[in-house]
Amino acid sequence: MEIIRVRSFTKNDYKKIFEYNKEHIIHNFPDSIHRDNLLKTAIDKDLHNPRAYFFFAMDEETKKPIAFLWLRIEKDPYKEPRPYRYLDLHYIHVDECWRKKGIGEGLMEFTMKFAKKKKCREIRLGTHTANNAAQNLYKKFSFEPYRVIMRTFV
Ligand SMILES: CC(C)(COP(=O)(O)OP(=O)(O)OC[C@H]1O[C@@H](n2cnc3c(N)ncnc32)[C@H](O)[C@@H]1OP(=O)(O)O)[C@@H](O)C(=O)NCCC(=O)NCCS
Repeated sequence: MEIIRVRSFTKNDYKKIFEYNKEHIIHNFPDSIHRDNLLKTAIDKDLHNPRAYFFFAMDEETKKPIAFLWLRIEKDPYKEPRPYRYLDLHYIHVDECWRKKGIGEGLMEFTMKFAKKKKCREIRLGTHTANNAAQNLYKKFSFEPYRVIMRTFV
């Protein structure tokens, strides 16, 4: 699988990501609503962030994107040795018709190597408790829960 880094977005890139995000929200924030403008604001902000990286996995034949990966290098000020850098796996999404073909795993391998290259000590991510596909994928790379977000309705 060829992985292409994309820094400057075209209008088409937004369209694809908005399309992905409609489903992404259902799997990861099922009681939230999809809003293109909020996602656009977050992407636009990170396009100016030198520690944020956008990647598309491309179909080698059509040269069209089939998966999207958004990574961000962060610092944890509460850990030693300082600076303690970790990689935030901010967003991973494989086109629905390309799933179960090893692309998610390929992107995770890429992310692991990227984290090492950037001297990050760990990779952190969040997912919904019911997103079994994502959790199974992460478990294959030895991810385990270390903090749990809890809530109650009042
Ligand atoms: C999660 C996701 C990225 C996996 O991508 P993928 O390309 O289908 O994954 P792979 O084919 O590389 O599968 C790797 C492993 O993931 C797990 N997995 C993938 N799809 C699964 C499914 N539908 N059910 C259970 N486990 C699944 C399996 O452990 C699989 O390993 P196996 O094939 O040896 O069983 C993809 O389903 C997706 O984009 N989902 C929607 C967006 C999303 O929820 N992203 C995660 C946000 S936190």
